[in-house]
Amino acid sequence: MKRVAVLISGRGSNLQSLIDAAGDSYRIILVVSNVEGAGGLQKAQRSGIAIAVIPHAGKTREAFDAEVDAALRAAGAELVVLAGFMRILSDGFVRGWEGKLINIHPSLLPAYKGTKVHERVIEAKEALSGASVHFVVPELDAGPVIAQASVKVAPSDTPQSLAERVLAVEHRLYPEALKLLASDKVRLENGLALFR
Ligand code: GRF
Repeated sequence: MKRVAVLISGRGSNLQSLIDAAGDSYRIILVVSNVEGAGGLQKAQRSGIAIAVIPHAGKTREAFDAEVDAALRAAGAELVVLAGFMRILSDGFVRGWEGKLINIHPSLLPAYKGTKVHERVIEAKEALSGASVHFVVPELDAGPVIAQASVKVAPSDTPQSLAERVLAVEHRLYPEALKLLASDKVRLENGLALFR
């Protein structure tokens, strides 16, 4: 049973899906938010999970990341899951959690890295979009993909309607990907997500 910490900045709907699916291979022992009052903090507390609020304002990236790292180590986290965490992590932090740190991104990576994904997908008249769970590497949204799921883009889609459908898929995909990692069925090796 792996001890998992989840980093959030917002409503925490992915966090909730990870809480709901915990049991066999992992349990969530800490939720860290850089935003005070983030909706996900209440979700954690409702499930009796410890929370930590670590504001980033007025700190260097390295100082903020060091505080987060210290909280994760103190809690005995073995895996770190980013779920709507809206901060770029420093290379040092990412290297310190190499192979133990994953993120979910609402596109079919390597397509549409970064922000405003759904707007850009619709603008480009893509037929498909989706969600990707990937190992985090220093380059943004560039780490090896562990799992992906696609949804069709309808001509009538707005960024909001597409975001909702992708989010529903995220909620199914993220726990599955975390279980793979927590049960050592996938690992990061030589820049690849290696399955066994
Ligand atoms: C999700 O769309 C996720 O892919 C992106 O941020 C959003 C977080 O939503 N990284 P929530 O806070 O989990 O509801």
